[in-house]
Amino acid sequence: MKLGVNIDHIATLRQARMTNEPDPVYAAVIAELAGADGITIHLRQDRRHIQEKDLELLREIIKTKLNLEMAISMEMVKIALKHKPDICTLVPESSEEVTTSGGLDVVLYIDKIKEVVGNLKAAGLEVSIFIDPDVDQIKACYRMGINAIEINTGEYAENWNNSNAAFELEKIKKSVGYAKRMNLKILAGHGLTYQNVGPIVAMRDIEELNIGHSIIANSSFLGLAEAVRRMKHIMEVNEEKK
Ligand code: PXP
Repeated sequence: MKLGVNIDHIATLRQARMTNEPDPVYAAVIAELAGADGITIHLRQDRRHIQEKDLELLREIIKTKLNLEMAISMEMVKIALKHKPDICTLVPESSEEVTTSGGLDVVLYIDKIKEVVGNLKAAGLEVSIFIDPDVDQIKACYRMGINAIEINTGEYAENWNNSNAAFELEKIKKSVGYAKRMNLKILAGHGLTYQNVGPIVAMRDIEELNIGHSIIANSSFLGLAEAVRRMKHIMEVNEEKK
């Protein structure tokens, strides 16, 4: 299973002082050298962490894959078309939220999403949609001709050590099974940590995880390379158990 490292919080720290360190470009290089299979950034409309200049520089230096998380807006479509990330992940966005909260409601915003997806695909860009583990959402993605989805593991991550964990895992498992039958490429992420990633890795049809906060948080004690290596190692150990 591949690991995409989300480096947004390197930029969060930089923006806290409006300075030039720490640099997301350094972070991307270190994460890749430590084994990351891809780098993810979310260029938010409020530019609270990653800036367009970061996207431009990262596009040039990333050797693995650049995943751009983006809101369903034409402003973001224009930016994606200009910088051509390897994959665009559509996410819901609101200025009040601390981080992405919940998946994009594809059923509700179908027309807007179709327009955005149409523009991205016409330019040859791969598109994934971040959705909650829900069969209706997967069906809507499939009908739209989307070939990749990222399943939101946030609810599971919040409940991994209490009695709701089995219920949350079951929802993810069911969604993964359904998406697999639809022949979709399946990614997953949100809230994953060294402690809770195991049962997600055990779902063999998930191809890639996107993990940010926990890796960056641990990097302040371990260094970024070791924080990435540790996550890769835990994923590998759990894959061997499958
Ligand atoms: N996937 C998506 C779509 C996200 O928006 C985020 C957070 O930016 C993540 C994965 C990673 O979540 P976390 O930072 O909690 O690991």
